[in-house]
Amino acid sequence: MILVTGGAGFIGANFVLDWLALSEESLVNLDKLTYAGNRENLAALTDDPRHVFVHGDIGDSALTNRLLAQYQPRAIINFAAESHVDRSIHGPEDFIQTNIVGTFHLLESIRGYWSSLQGEARDGFRFLHVSTDEVYGSLAREEPAFSETHRYEPNSPYSASKAASDHLVRAYHHTYGLPVLTTNCSNNYGPYHFPEKLIPLMIVNALAGKPLPVYGDGQQIRDWLYVKDHCSAIRRVLEAGRPGETYNVGGWNEKPNLDIVRTVCTLLDELRPRADGKPYCEQIAYVTDRPGHDRRYAIDARKIERELGWKPAETFATGIRKTVQWYLDNQAWVGNVQSGAYRDWVEKNYGERQG
Ligand code: NAD
Ligand code: TYD
Repeated sequence: MILVTGGAGFIGANFVLDWLALSEESLVNLDKLTYAGNRENLAALTDDPRHVFVHGDIGDSALTNRLLAQYQPRAIINFAAESHVDRSIHGPEDFIQTNIVGTFHLLESIRGYWSSLQGEARDGFRFLHVSTDEVYGSLAREEPAFSETHRYEPNSPYSASKAASDHLVRAYHHTYGLPVLTTNCSNNYGPYHFPEKLIPLMIVNALAGKPLPVYGDGQQIRDWLYVKDHCSAIRRVLEAGRPGETYNVGGWNEKPNLDIVRTVCTLLDELRPRADGKPYCEQIAYVTDRPGHDRRYAIDARKIERELGWKPAETFATGIRKTVQWYLDNQAWVGNVQSGAYRDWVEKNYGERQG
């Protein structure tokens, strides 16, 4: 079986659902259930004995040692992290704790476990660390996209903490020989995306008749990838990636934020027109920019295509339509995640921003 951390979050839950739909191999899912972790994402697996959910922290060595000894996974995929840049600006400590210290403790447990393995079990073992393109910093408009050799230049507490975890993972390979794989992916979107991030926030706010808060001039560029394509890339890297290597994952789909927001509005105009017949774009509101806001991310995904034959299956047009439709079909999920804690966050992040 395999062990997944953070499998109740956005990407992790999509990964777990796809994994069990595509393979018979069981999966242990270790998740702390922070505000971003939601067991409802995994409701379809309630009666599936192949899914073992464990509520816990990647930094709890006693727990991870016990899980490794008990389940003897052939591979571990580390999704667990604090993942939202704006939250890292308001409160970096949790990011340091989970993304750096937590990953360190997890690596230590895994090193102990892997050292105890022998023969094929030891040779075939893999630790796959899921990371982000944000570790590379910000690109100017004319610069080439991030390749795997681009220097690390993280600019937010979030990206700095992910960069630190990537370095630890790299060091455990270099120093101890641990068979690690790292993926650095661009911005994901799709089902189960927590509505603090750009795309789900815009869908949810639009439907609620609220302002659509665009930071600064809205011309910051991100490279968007449908989440299920990220999951297929991770499966492919796990299957065929070379230990010690990193693979950049992206959708060749750079777009300014304002284009993204307008696309969401246009789709909603078609699929769920406003009662007053006016376009959702009228709700766009320019607000104070994010401090230290990275201007552009773009992924050069040629290595994973050349070496492992991976390519995204969705275009942005098909992926964003599916995503908007998913939110329209899952209004109860949206209602459930908008707890008091969610409302407190919205007040904290947007209350102080001027329009
Ligand atoms: P998310 O915030 O939606 O989910 C994170 C999950 O990790 C949650 O279920 C949470 O409960 C769990 N978690 C947090 N701290 C934990 C801890 N100490 N121990 C165990 N579980 C813990 O994040 P996501 O968007 O699904 O991102 C998953 C991974 O992918 C992260 O490592 C992130 O850096 C990376 N990534 C995300 C994106 C993106 O666009 N969302 C892009 C590239 C890479
Ligand atoms: P986000 O989804 O937070 O991802 P990241 O910061 O990790 O790229 O934000 C995507 C882009 O959208 C980023 O440039 C910030 C911008 N943004 C807004 O303009 N308004 C918002 O309310 C949010 C959450 C993000």
